[in-house]
Amino acid sequence: MKQVKMLKDAMKNNYIVPAFNIANFEILRGLLVAAKEMKSPIILQISESAMNYFTDELLVGMIQAIRKIKHPISIHLDHGKSIEVVKRAIKLGFDSVMIDGSTLPFSENVKLTKKVVTFAHSRNVSVEGELGVLSIANDDGLLSDGQRFTSPDEAKKFVSLTGVDSLAVSIGTNHGVNKYIGEPKIRYDILKKIEKEIPNIPIVLHGASLIESQYIDKINKFGGKIDKAIGNVNLLKNAYKTHISKINMDTDFRLAYTSAVREYMTINPDKYNPRDYGNVGISAVIECAKSRIKNICKSNNRVK
Ligand code: G3H
Ligand code: 13P
Ligand code: ZN
Repeated sequence: MKQVKMLKDAMKNNYIVPAFNIANFEILRGLLVAAKEMKSPIILQISESAMNYFTDELLVGMIQAIRKIKHPISIHLDHGKSIEVVKRAIKLGFDSVMIDGSTLPFSENVKLTKKVVTFAHSRNVSVEGELGVLSIANDDGLLSDGQRFTSPDEAKKFVSLTGVDSLAVSIGTNHGVNKYIGEPKIRYDILKKIEKEIPNIPIVLHGASLIESQYIDKINKFGGKIDKAIGNVNLLKNAYKTHISKINMDTDFRLAYTSAVREYMTINPDKYNPRDYGNVGISAVIECAKSRIKNICKSNNRVK
């Protein structure tokens, strides 16, 4: 279970393993270049919808090709919601899976996660569970702190009942471009309490994209319309000193890629070869990933 080793090393040595989603082939290309150039280990995450986009036939080949690269790269299922998708990912050769039962009642989350742990561990695949709901609001309005943030006591119970290798927690971050209503704030106080209850379990932080204005402004300047974007700029500077050992970023690369492509297409209206704008998008992803690796994860120069 090589991913557990990766995360434990990061926890012990005060850095974070970047877990970056691959939404398309160009983003994959960019992330591989950035990880190699920065000498950083990397987790490449694939969601169920990304699996459907790539198709299983091509994913098998992609995974085999990635295995041949001499660099610490782990391939991970992001937000698996069912045992079926976990089985599909393991069959395709993923190193680790996430089972996301965070919206289920505690006992059902435990039941589903335990089932996945039993299945995955017997196949040498590690498992990330999630406790706490990453969402600012539900249909009835804002969620209360108790509904939303991970309870440290429950985290302890959850880990011992399920046997997960790492735990994703809810401490304020959210997915997508609009992460906060009101003041952006990550509850490091809650994280500290969780760390005390589960001192040996690497913590995973989802919804970690910074959402820098340079990307939003460029997208909006070149014909896009993204309103009220608000992310984690300045909130993750010291995250590497905590037990957060895996940080999930997807939206930042979507923004980097899209902003570069929009600019290129506007300035070069005569271009129609996808490789022309694809290359510009890949360069933007490389730059963004290098910056996250160096400034947030501190995972550069960890590969000898
Ligand atoms: O946390 C969710 C990830 O960003 C995956 O999103 O299902 O659109 O690939 P996706
Ligand atoms: P972002 O939307 O902040 O990039 O979060 C991605 C994520 O958590 C994937 O699991
Ligand atoms: Zn996530």
